[in-house]
Amino acid sequence: MKRGLKTMLLVLLAIVLGIQLFRSERSNPPVMGDLRAPAAVKEVLRESCYDCHSNETIWPWYSAVNPVGWLVAADVIEGREHLNFSDWENFEAQKRWHMKQEILEVVESGEMPLSVYLLMHGNARLSTEDRAVLTQWVQSEDSMR
Ligand code: HEC
Repeated sequence: MKRGLKTMLLVLLAIVLGIQLFRSERSNPPVMGDLRAPAAVKEVLRESCYDCHSNETIWPWYSAVNPVGWLVAADVIEGREHLNFSDWENFEAQKRWHMKQEILEVVESGEMPLSVYLLMHGNARLSTEDRAVLTQWVQSEDSMR
């Protein structure tokens, strides 16, 4: 019985160590067209969104430890695929306009930033003021630019 437990713990340890060999790539590709927007807007987006929606991800230490690392990397890869502020200026005007509407939608619904992210990044939570800044940006006259 006791020996069985020891074997189990050893197997578990081997698994935990073994999965560390399968590192996700934690890359930050070059920034080719970073969003140009008023400073207040940039500040909110950088604080709350850039870790998953830009090529300037600040990879936290636990992203080097699997299985959590896999989850973090998956969110970043998927987040960049959907919306990447580092490419924003290369989008067609139409796409930028559409994206802004999407941003408003997910911000108002509280869908973004993802709640799992907020567990470790409390200051990324959007305040009423942050939301107002983003709403005003989306609805501003130059929103087609
Ligand atoms: C922890 C990573 C993470 C953070 C932080 C984050 N997002 Fe996301 N975002 C994702 C992922 C993953 C998806 C795609 C899957 C989904 O929709 O849930 C996504 C999808 C989106 C979409 C949908 C795009 C589309 O094509 O429909 C928008 C818009 C968006 N995010 C905006 C934001 C904004 C604005 C912020 C900051 C206030 C933010 N996100 C913060 C990971 C993140």
